[in-house]
Amino acid sequence: MNNARPNPATMVIFGATGDLSKRKLLPALHRLKILRLLPEPFNIAGFATRPLTDESFRAYAASGIEEFSTYKPVDKAAVEGLLKNACFVSSGFDSLDGFHALSTKLSEMDASASGGAGTSRIFYLATPPAHFSVIIEMLGRSGLSKKREWEKTPPKIIIEKPFGRDLASARELNALISKYFTEDQVFRIDHYLGKDTVQNILFFRFANGIYEPIWNRRYVDHVQITVAEKGGVGDRGKFFEDTGTLRDMVQNHIMELLALVGMEPPINMDADKIKTKKIELLQSIRPVTDEYVKENLVRGQYTGGIGAPAPSGVGRKEKITPYKEEKYVSPSSKVETFVAMKLFIDNWRWSGVPFYIRTGKRLKKRSTEIAIHFKTVPHCLFTSLLKCYPEGNILILKIQPDEGISFCFNIKYPGTSNELDTVNMDFSYKKAYGVELPEAYERLLYDCMAGDSTLFPNIKNIEVSWDFITKILSAWGNEAPPMLPGYEPGSWGPKEADELIERDSRKWHNQ
Ligand code: BG6
Repeated sequence: MNNARPNPATMVIFGATGDLSKRKLLPALHRLKILRLLPEPFNIAGFATRPLTDESFRAYAASGIEEFSTYKPVDKAAVEGLLKNACFVSSGFDSLDGFHALSTKLSEMDASASGGAGTSRIFYLATPPAHFSVIIEMLGRSGLSKKREWEKTPPKIIIEKPFGRDLASARELNALISKYFTEDQVFRIDHYLGKDTVQNILFFRFANGIYEPIWNRRYVDHVQITVAEKGGVGDRGKFFEDTGTLRDMVQNHIMELLALVGMEPPINMDADKIKTKKIELLQSIRPVTDEYVKENLVRGQYTGGIGAPAPSGVGRKEKITPYKEEKYVSPSSKVETFVAMKLFIDNWRWSGVPFYIRTGKRLKKRSTEIAIHFKTVPHCLFTSLLKCYPEGNILILKIQPDEGISFCFNIKYPGTSNELDTVNMDFSYKKAYGVELPEAYERLLYDCMAGDSTLFPNIKNIEVSWDFITKILSAWGNEAPPMLPGYEPGSWGPKEADELIERDSRKWHNQ
């Protein structure tokens, strides 16, 4: 991100009246407008099946920003500036006529809003994945995917996750995209990569001399990656029934975190150099067999109950609906809302070091963190004085919330007795800088407009990740239908997840 205004652009949002658009994309554009990081001119075109007019779309978009922007109070002038030329096409995604109508509107908009100079186009596929293929096909057939003569750069296309449902479908989707777009036009979103604290993983690792020499099998005992959510599936039951946690969270967000924490140093920070190293790491994950999956992977599904109290402890505990009774969910659903797993990376750096990953909905609290557990001291000098062996040091990269970094180490408890205590050295972004970190979509939208693809996984990255995940899916497919362990809302998941790590005489970092 270089903080310069990108070239004039028009962003077409497919699924403009959906959740993603309202909750994330429009508020992020509002923020970029305030920060003067949007191009001049910048236009928005909404495309969706709802029967809105240009005017009612503008009102809808403004109310979305008002409701969901995390920066309050909303800057009314910025909203007005952002939406003043916005237009809307109401059409099915499979209607070529609808795409011709879009093309006409875009040309009219160019002519009036930018003095006829024209703007580069960005197509954002913010619809459910079932519509991706037909939209890409229609963009191609209507000629909208083509570069116009005067354009410096061809149109771009942004595709939301999940990119496919397994390796074969990801490849199929990509084959369709490459019929109409070249790789440098394609931006595949994994919003975790837009989070400041996720980008910080590389800064922290490669801008500090002290940790990198010990970032390997000689000093690291194991690594834990936790992506815990307090919320349930909400209104997304239909999507989730089709997807499940492995596809929704592990194939993308967790694999990306794993790649960043485990990769070798790139030779510089060029997009391709970083991507190559991430891919190499993902290629080194030990492939799983059916037997391995049975032994080392735990699935779970949340039951009903009383959720965890708010972190402040104030307020009533919430009554939680079981997953099976959520809207659009089958009462006999066997879809997982929790996954925990042990995996290994077979390379020189990480040989023999277990990586434990876990993610789930309706857990005790919202917490995403990477905990690097270092080995304990080789010989304890204090055995005669202490009741216990000192714990290994832990470095915790706190991705969200309470973004920061903690280092846990052992000290002597003050006083005349010889007691050991474990304390934390804490860095908090909020305390250090006193600012809210930007929303992931702000960074990603800006980078796409500026043509920087560093934070967008390329197709190879996605295929390698799917290759690993598809082996798990097929191991599941080869099993008798599962009895998913239930877990109570507000817990840390099923007891089987604790057993998975305790078998190795370790425990989850539940904080
Ligand atoms: C999305 C998943 O990609 O990430 C959701 O589809 C999940 O199910 C969300 O809730 C979590 O994102 P964040 O940024 O709130 O951690």
